[in-house]
Amino acid sequence: MSTRKILVTSALPYANGPIHLGHLVEYIQTDIWTRFQKMQGHEAWYVCADDAHGTPIMLRADKEGITPEALIAKTSEEHQADFADFNIAFDHYHSTHSDENRELASDIYLKLESAGHIAKRTISQAFDPEKQMFLPDRFIKGECPKCGAADQYGDNCEVCGATYSPTELKNAVSAVSGATPIEKDSEHYFFKLGDFEAFLKEWTTSGHVHESLENKLGEWFEAGLQDWDISRDAPYFGFQIPGSDNKYFYVWLDAPVGYMASFKALCEKQGLNFDEYWAEDSNAEVVHFIGKDIVYFHALFWPAMLKGAGFRTPSKILAHGFLTLNGEKMSKSRGTFIKARTWLDHMPAEPLRYYFAAKLNNGVSDLDLNLEDFVARVNSDLVGKYVNIASRCANFITKKFDGQLTEITEAHPLVAECAAAAPQIAELYEQRDFARAVREIMALADKANQYIAEQEPWALAKDESKLPQVHDICSTGVRLFHILSIYLKPLLPALGEKAEAFLNLPPQQWSDVGQNLSGHAINKFKPLMTRVQSEDIEKVLEVAAEEAKAFAEPEKKVEATNPIADEIEFDDFAKIDLRLATIVEADHVEGADKLLRLQLDLGDETGGVKKQVFAGIKSAYDPEDLIGKTTVVVANLKPRKMRFGMSEGMVLAAGPGGEDLWILEPSNNSRGKFSQAGNRVK
Ligand code: MSP
Ligand code: ZN
Repeated sequence: MSTRKILVTSALPYANGPIHLGHLVEYIQTDIWTRFQKMQGHEAWYVCADDAHGTPIMLRADKEGITPEALIAKTSEEHQADFADFNIAFDHYHSTHSDENRELASDIYLKLESAGHIAKRTISQAFDPEKQMFLPDRFIKGECPKCGAADQYGDNCEVCGATYSPTELKNAVSAVSGATPIEKDSEHYFFKLGDFEAFLKEWTTSGHVHESLENKLGEWFEAGLQDWDISRDAPYFGFQIPGSDNKYFYVWLDAPVGYMASFKALCEKQGLNFDEYWAEDSNAEVVHFIGKDIVYFHALFWPAMLKGAGFRTPSKILAHGFLTLNGEKMSKSRGTFIKARTWLDHMPAEPLRYYFAAKLNNGVSDLDLNLEDFVARVNSDLVGKYVNIASRCANFITKKFDGQLTEITEAHPLVAECAAAAPQIAELYEQRDFARAVREIMALADKANQYIAEQEPWALAKDESKLPQVHDICSTGVRLFHILSIYLKPLLPALGEKAEAFLNLPPQQWSDVGQNLSGHAINKFKPLMTRVQSEDIEKVLEVAAEEAKAFAEPEKKVEATNPIADEIEFDDFAKIDLRLATIVEADHVEGADKLLRLQLDLGDETGGVKKQVFAGIKSAYDPEDLIGKTTVVVANLKPRKMRFGMSEGMVLAAGPGGEDLWILEPSNNSRGKFSQAGNRVK
């Protein structure tokens, strides 16, 4: 068998949310497959990255009051910690917001442009006049045009299920600012996907995508390949399009390029040859694992982009289905949305890897995490069957035979049968039919257990003369455990390492299935894993339920329309001379929409100073109502020449604005002291 060169990827998770159990289906699936290829001795590289660009990330950072760069740095750390703790072994984890990606995305774009595959035309789009930004569909909400349900986002109604264009929403508002969107024109850049129709029809039907997707692809071809809008206007968190002043690549343009960028960074780290994997004539394999929701991007846009820019196209687009929890779609509001970190806080990682594997085949049907079944299955298969083989045999070897296996283990028919299954199980891994691989492996584990149960070494061990038999049986058991450990290692890398430590063996490759362990000395057996507890699952669900509550009642956030100004020193404040004043005259000002003219009397204490002040309180007061009132004035404000005359002070007023604006009115009812204007206030 010749060595293959395989570059493997998983879809790049968005940098605006945590990794959850649904994501993990994909990363675990990919990790298992890549580990398997490495155990076969192939040169396999697994790369991934955070998908860091786009409007949601920009707005999320905005809301948290941090820069998008700070947000994606924080998220990347969290994502990588989650993946590492699920034993997902990337060779490199990158970000789409990286120099490599900027260069590659620009390079691909420029090649597409010079080959005539980019069109430019002006389109009209919803624009938020307050936030001064174009609004993606999901940031527009309004009433459903069909059923009238309020607060519906984008282009479909969650209440009646209708689909429509966001422009049909009634009383539409921007979900960002609450402003009513306007239509605004802007020039956009389009990738002419139709240029690649013939190529794509050929490519998608020659083994690069799973047959189960062919129907879907057929529908898409039938509907016609539309030009793809690849530009976005500022403000946008992404890469500026070369040759434009304020256009940015749409996040989905540079996202798949992130696969190449991550690999490029790996090449730098490992001294690999980038072109060997990505040049048009490359013999290496490029395999993308994705969810069924993003097939359009990977089976149409991506190969067309690569083709048009003179790179090789993917070997395989491998799609999987979606995870359900206890038969239902995971939901944040129903408390069935489980974050990777929540799971890890209460449970080990490997049982979930095993369970997902036991449910994964190479199709796109959804898979269910049934929590009761999970506990039963993992305990029965891993603890009850696999680990049990070692724990029943190990102690005899250690105690009675100095840790040494017999010479005859290889001769046993069950050892031969078990080892002979290697090519078949390998093929199941290769085809990503992990569910069947698990069934085959567990069938062998059953046979091993049955053998030990029938031989009853514990009974024989009571009779000194039967010890050689005990030695043979237990050695055979350990050798069977060795083979099964290799078969399970792509699924259970950490457990595999513990097994290797017990077996006193270096990291095992697939070919080590045939390794003769006759006379080999093993180490003392330590428990390899404990049973999964239902109570721990309960704890995970409790946390998810708590989070659901928080999700249902998002804390009412008051949008600061007029945030408090920068701090001033006390000395600055002390300079202000505040006085009580009587409003003796108040009039409208010809031509001013906000101002009233006030004539103020600052009282005897000031020697009867009179001041004219223009105050911006017209929206809240009728002049007649002000005459005779006592208020507070900044008496030492430098007079300012205004369009309507001199303003010689400032009346103190506060409030959000409009009708809600109040001048300070020290009352003399309560204290009986302010009978007269002129007292210093401070
Ligand atoms: N950022 C894009 C992918 C860009 S690839 C160039 C994206 N990100 S995602 O975070 O939404 O999803 C990442 C992967 O996880 C996708 O392949 C998606 O299908 C998969 N899954 C997300 N939720 C899932 C389930 N509930 N179940 C199974 N897989 C799911 O899409
Ligand atoms: Zn509706």
